[in-house]
Amino acid sequence: MKVLVTGTEGYIGARLAPWLTARGHEVVGLDTGYYRDGTLYLDPIGLPQLPRTICKDLRTVVPQDFEGFDAVVHLAELSNDPLGQNRPEITFEINHEGSVRIAQAARRAGVKRLVYASSCSVYGIGAAELVDETSPVNPQTAYAQCKTLVERDLKPMADRDFSVVFLRNATAYGASPRMRFDIVLNDLCALAWTKRKIAMTSDGSPWRPIVHVEDICEAMGCALEAPAEIVSGEVFNVGATQENYRVREIAEIVASVFPGCEVSVGPPGSDNRSYRVSFDKIAARLPGFKARWTAKMGAEELRRLFERIEMSSETYEFRAFTRLKQMKYLRRTGQVDNDLYWRTR
Ligand SMILES: NC(=O)c1ccc[n+]([C@@H]2O[C@H](COP(=O)([O-])OP(=O)(O)OC[C@H]3O[C@@H](n4cnc5c(N)ncnc54)[C@H](O)[C@@H]3O)[C@@H](O)[C@H]2O)c1
Repeated sequence: MKVLVTGTEGYIGARLAPWLTARGHEVVGLDTGYYRDGTLYLDPIGLPQLPRTICKDLRTVVPQDFEGFDAVVHLAELSNDPLGQNRPEITFEINHEGSVRIAQAARRAGVKRLVYASSCSVYGIGAAELVDETSPVNPQTAYAQCKTLVERDLKPMADRDFSVVFLRNATAYGASPRMRFDIVLNDLCALAWTKRKIAMTSDGSPWRPIVHVEDICEAMGCALEAPAEIVSGEVFNVGATQENYRVREIAEIVASVFPGCEVSVGPPGSDNRSYRVSFDKIAARLPGFKARWTAKMGAEELRRLFERIEMSSETYEFRAFTRLKQMKYLRRTGQVDNDLYWRTR
């Protein structure tokens, strides 16, 4: 298939694009490049193929951008809760309206399938029992609210010629050249390595399902390739049911892989997002998908990576690896305007 992947310069996209290419697809990227100055490591053998990338803000896409493509995987958004809360009105503009624009333009250009990167954060504060794709959503932040709005608005667009698949990804972890240290397992591993401290920002009690970035790639590949009648209009949680952890359990796993660290908790009530998610549907109904990674394997992978690249505190703290820091920097220095469009000099 000829696939346009938005967000190819981001955390997931930097792994997904070469992964899809290795699977035999022809990939073109689209990204405005907010994090272009942040590369944690080079991997020309494991991740050989960087796609040709159209540098464009998704709020300005037109049907011509999608002509000749069979499918679109849409990842590009302001991607996480703190970033979304920082500028909620721009989050709605990019994540909600921009994503609807992408789908409309793709459909008009004759694209057959769109895979949308939604998030388990739509479940917000779940009850103690497992939530699944049929449970009511309960978004707590602008970011999560936009995910529910995009799902709502894209669902009716699906028809015989255009199928849309919604993948509600758990919180990701794992190595990516476009590394992020603002997601829980990556952050705790980096703290353990650079500071010998595993400091949770919450009291450790919230439930968080987590999934390796490679398992997300697998789900996206399977969602692209499955027969339309099986996946069109469907929502799949992406992860594995046994990979639901309380944050303190994730901290304990990290402590077992990075021994000799001090483990500490943050104040109670500092993070009200908590949900346990069932991933039984994707395991049963998405042909070819199997989640292969565990949190322990992910922590071990990061330990090996940090050793190999001699990861330092400066690298951990570098702005481009923490989304909110980078966007604040681009804004403060006037490189992007108030609406987060690049400014010409
Ligand atoms: N990482 C996770 O834990 C996680 C979990 C669930 C869902 N998701 C979803 O998966 C997708 C990808 O996540 P990620 O972690 O790779 O995010 P990321 O922030 O690392 O990458 C997003 C990419 O989108 C680009 N982008 C942002 N706004 C844009 C715009 N207006 N126009 C064009 N490009 C723009 C950025 O430059 C960046 O390269 C997002 O939609 C995210 O919400 C991620």
